[in-house]
Amino acid sequence: MRETLYRLGDATVVEPLVNKWVAWAHVIPPVAGSLHLLRYQLRLLESYLSDPQSHATTCQDPKFRSGPFIDIPAEKAVDVREFLTTTNEKQAANIQFAKDILEFQNYLVEQAKGQSIEPFYEHLPPSLRGYVELLYDYYNRPIVRFMESLLYASPYYQPELQSLRIFRETQDRYRPFIMSTPRLVQHNQVDWTMPFASPEVDELFKLDSAPQPLGYIRNLLGLRPNDDDLLRQFLSDEMRNREEKWEDSNVRIRYLGHACVLIEWNGVSILTDPYIGVMPERTEADHMSYEDLPEKLDYVLITHNHHDHYCLETLLRLRHRIGCLVVPRSFGIFYGDLSLKLLSQNIGFKNVVELDTLDTIALSDGEIIAIPFMGEHADLPHAKTAYVVRAGKQQIMLAADSNCLDKRVYEHLRQILGPIETIFLGMECVGAPLSWTSGPFLPVAPEFAHEQSRRYNGCNAMRALDILEAVGAQRIYIYAMGLEPWLEHLLGLAYTDDAEQIKEAGLLISQARRRGFAEAQLLYGKHEILLSQTNGFCDRLYFSEETELQPVTEDQFTFE
Ligand SMILES: [Fe+2]
Ligand SMILES: [Fe+2]
Repeated sequence: MRETLYRLGDATVVEPLVNKWVAWAHVIPPVAGSLHLLRYQLRLLESYLSDPQSHATTCQDPKFRSGPFIDIPAEKAVDVREFLTTTNEKQAANIQFAKDILEFQNYLVEQAKGQSIEPFYEHLPPSLRGYVELLYDYYNRPIVRFMESLLYASPYYQPELQSLRIFRETQDRYRPFIMSTPRLVQHNQVDWTMPFASPEVDELFKLDSAPQPLGYIRNLLGLRPNDDDLLRQFLSDEMRNREEKWEDSNVRIRYLGHACVLIEWNGVSILTDPYIGVMPERTEADHMSYEDLPEKLDYVLITHNHHDHYCLETLLRLRHRIGCLVVPRSFGIFYGDLSLKLLSQNIGFKNVVELDTLDTIALSDGEIIAIPFMGEHADLPHAKTAYVVRAGKQQIMLAADSNCLDKRVYEHLRQILGPIETIFLGMECVGAPLSWTSGPFLPVAPEFAHEQSRRYNGCNAMRALDILEAVGAQRIYIYAMGLEPWLEHLLGLAYTDDAEQIKEAGLLISQARRRGFAEAQLLYGKHEILLSQTNGFCDRLYFSEETELQPVTEDQFTFE
């Protein structure tokens, strides 16, 4: 008799954690992670312990879902206290490192005024020695540049604190916000301590396409036979068909939610900013999931390190299926501008390519081109890039959260690349203030007025139209809006219909349709587009009742 084989169940989530906090780009790298620990996680735990009930109550209000509140019932406060104690013990070196980083920078700013910076090496605290270079900018302001690659080999990087938490997502909006609620172990979960770079992690995720017997999975996870009932809840013996490779020369584009877009033609597959939702047992929105992806993904493109674009949960699950991970280049001067290349390599990606503006990757009958991604980061330097994918005659721009701060940039792009017909653009036009994710990096708290004026804004309708006009677009798909319920734990946006972002998206759509765009849509859930190679236009042209397709001219762009 053949042994029953199991794959991961449709609703099974495997959430990567670092010391029980959901892993995202500011939690893993030694400098960013230590500062985030000191200035965010520890403060949050202490705030919770001073009044657990008010944290738990506040989390019930969707408006505060993504705020600095811990969603753990007050009766569990004793567990949180124990967690804080063990954190202080296990991460004592990181805490000291973070304190020294902030203190030394403040000291240097006071003392180093343009004279030789060499004597200041003598004043480095022991924790920073051997890991930094001291520099000036052209105005004699000192900079502490960290050598990130050395730090990944230091005691400040602790892969032994990495784990994977396995549970079932029973319904939409099941999980608390990722940044603010640590994942204390619950009885119906498996807590698998395993460094992300371990080959065992790939072995677990290969179950998605190569099911295995229960005993194999039990051994892999280090469980015992009396855990089998729990383990079976996360598995399925129902076999499913694997998605075929798309070999057609026409371009198939699949929207899988938020900023995740799959572009395929001629057997090439490119996935952007992957976050793939599992299929909860109860869901209000049908969507595609892991089984809708081709077995191999040739390229995965990352636009920037925000947790809704560089998502460890999906990246680790897909790692063994990804040919090449493409990330934006970081400048390496500011520690908040962390290297996604080093981060990805240290969590086990073997083939990582970093692209700078206009760097390209050649494909058969196509190209991946890195293009500027401006704004959205509260005026701080940050590794980020948008992309143009040229697929035969089609050019497709994946702009993510780009803000059009200077239309001339896009005019230059059009001169270099020619018209870009199809645009995917986010419109998170009312972004969070400066401290949202960068607060822990700032040695001195920003003034209130600066905090409010420097935000994580993407395009509003006017700026989006500037991009469309400059590159000669014919199709606009608004994406990356955090609308889908399966990623609410990432963003917690809880939009209402009168939210500014939704109003601006509606305005852009109506303006684009009035100007005769072939398609103008706000994407939600799932969507498929087919672009023809024969006439360079979409096979499914959108014509509104009152408008015919017509070329876009300068005078049509007087914004109302
Ligand atoms: Fe972003
Ligand atoms: Fe985003």
